[in-house]
Amino acid sequence: MGFSKDFLWGAATAAYQIEGAANEDGRGPSIWDTFSHTSGKIKNGDTGDVACDHYHCYKEDVALMAELGLQAYRFSISWPRVLPEGTGSPNEKGLDFYDRLVDELLAKNIQPCATLFHWDLPQVLHDKGGWRNPDIAGHFGAYAELMGRRLGDRVPCWMTFNEMCVVINCGHVPSGNHAPGEKLDRTGALEVLKGLLLSHGRGVQALRAVLPKTAQIGLAHCGVVNFPTSDSAEDIEATRKSMFAVPDDGGSDLHSAALYLDPVFFGKYTEETLQYFGTGMPPVSAAEMETISQPIDFLGLNVYRGRCVGAGANGEPETRPLEPAGYTHFNWPITPDVLYWGVKLMHERYGKPIMITENGMSNDDTLNADGKVHDVERIEFLTSYLRALRRAADDGVPVLGYMQWSLMDNFEWAEGYSQRFGLIHIDYETQQRTLKDSALWYRDVIESNGDHL
Ligand code: FCB
Repeated sequence: MGFSKDFLWGAATAAYQIEGAANEDGRGPSIWDTFSHTSGKIKNGDTGDVACDHYHCYKEDVALMAELGLQAYRFSISWPRVLPEGTGSPNEKGLDFYDRLVDELLAKNIQPCATLFHWDLPQVLHDKGGWRNPDIAGHFGAYAELMGRRLGDRVPCWMTFNEMCVVINCGHVPSGNHAPGEKLDRTGALEVLKGLLLSHGRGVQALRAVLPKTAQIGLAHCGVVNFPTSDSAEDIEATRKSMFAVPDDGGSDLHSAALYLDPVFFGKYTEETLQYFGTGMPPVSAAEMETISQPIDFLGLNVYRGRCVGAGANGEPETRPLEPAGYTHFNWPITPDVLYWGVKLMHERYGKPIMITENGMSNDDTLNADGKVHDVERIEFLTSYLRALRRAADDGVPVLGYMQWSLMDNFEWAEGYSQRFGLIHIDYETQQRTLKDSALWYRDVIESNGDHL
């Protein structure tokens, strides 16, 4: 069976990671500008001030996408570029940039997929309480409406949020290393979650009101995805349980999909979740739940690695030692089976078509004397993960597309420029772009709709 005929092959990026032009054309500061300019927060003191200078090089970048035969491109919109104050008067020059980008993509037959929030909250909104400000959902809704009106005639696919789970667990808890660097207790973190969920819901409502009926709206989630140690019914059941339990099998209580996706898709939390958090969970009224659970069209999954799970003596999930195929430059274990099991079990629970909105690896890539980047490790990585995804499609899981992370090397948050995830190599001194061997390989995969794997 393999990938469907209309499967979308693409690549992904995010505004703060690639755009640069941090102080140009009226863009306001985001929490990532503040954070990256705070000493000691980012490896080597890197910032996204210039990044890949995509704001100026977007035409060249879209031309490279076309050379690779990309059918779709997932990018994010910088909220402070289009609304420097977070609310109120839009910045025309910022809006113009996204107009030009979208037009360039369409001219090359590449479908734009826009994400409204990939972590760069306008600093002014954070200063007013951020996701815990009761007005934040209204502000996000207004931002969504602005973008929907502006780009909705040309952008058919939208995502409200990228990885609420990472926003919380890296940005708002004591162990976090991301902007804004808030050290909240669990109740505070759950208040942030409520603000994110309500904003998502208001964003969906605003987009629905202004987009054509055919528009596809989803969100990009990343959290616990696991795979069973064997194909036995017990191990599969333990894996299923582990992915949606609170706390999860890794002992964390803020990572489970039950916290992020149950309210979106079911309009409620499970009894288990409510009992576990007890009074630490801020109350959500029926009207608020209705907002949060606005119907969406697909579930985006960012999948990199997972845990191996088996059934313990009492059938309860037990994390088993990993035997990874290797480790990435980031030291993340290579566990391709999650692109089969994670996808299958997520679809089984939530019933929506799945889009892989991110998957890829950081690698120790160097530009060789021959002017090329021989990233065989990435080709092996992507081959194994994409085969696993194909198996999910073979099993009948509706998989809409695959957005490789990332189109190009970029600013990897707390790691600065030290992790290279791209299909395209960036020389940060000269801004020279070079297609890595994996990019050329991916072009063949796309051309053959996956037969080349
Ligand atoms: C994801 C982020 C993305 C990138 C990859 C490596 O969590 O969404 O921006 O940093 O990880």
